[in-house]
Amino acid sequence: MNVLLVSRGATHHGGHDAIHHLAAQVAEATGVPVRACFLDGAEPSLHTALDAVPEHGEVLLVAAHLPPDRYLDTWLRRAVAHWRTTRSRQVRVLLAPPLATRPALVTAVSDAITGEHATLDGNPGPFRSPAWSQITRHRRHVLLCRGPRCTAYGAGQVAAALGNRLKEHGLGDDDVLVTPTGCLFPCNLGPLVVVYPDDTWYEHVDADLAVLIADGHLRDGAPIDGGRRRDS
Ligand code: FES
Repeated sequence: MNVLLVSRGATHHGGHDAIHHLAAQVAEATGVPVRACFLDGAEPSLHTALDAVPEHGEVLLVAAHLPPDRYLDTWLRRAVAHWRTTRSRQVRVLLAPPLATRPALVTAVSDAITGEHATLDGNPGPFRSPAWSQITRHRRHVLLCRGPRCTAYGAGQVAAALGNRLKEHGLGDDDVLVTPTGCLFPCNLGPLVVVYPDDTWYEHVDADLAVLIADGHLRDGAPIDGGRRRDS
């Protein structure tokens, strides 16, 4: 049996690394193939991970979230149902009970209480900085949807292509501020990329279109064909 540890995308790479590390440790402890994947916000997506399960294979999904996250539970089911309708694959998908209901969690917290403790007496300086009162002077703000549907449709590849192209053009945060977002609502049009202040919405973006947006709109300064404004 294959096992997928399914998580929400953390806002920092350290969080992603921790989930991958946990998967590797569980694989070592159990002798079972365990991989980490993400419902939204990070790669590999759940769809990509399911694609890698052998034909006629079986996969157990373990939702990795503490405390319980109803969003992940709900969307995990929807994402698997969508994966089934978009792939002609024979894979049996099982779902494990929420980690938060496992008795071992009580043991882990009890161990934390009785184990060694660190004293928190650090300098509060890093909590605030004068620099964080300044609004960046970027010319354009790009919203890149990393919600669950856009992630299933390939937003991860869009993010990579856009980021690489902007880097090639030497366009940093002061020029183009790219912000990954949660669901922007018109999910049927995803993956979505929105450019402000031009109020230009690009729909069904793939890696090739992301490069064109970076070249034509974000470097050269004018919306390219296919972008449109909000419905009025
Ligand atoms: S997930 Fe991207 S618009 Fe809903």
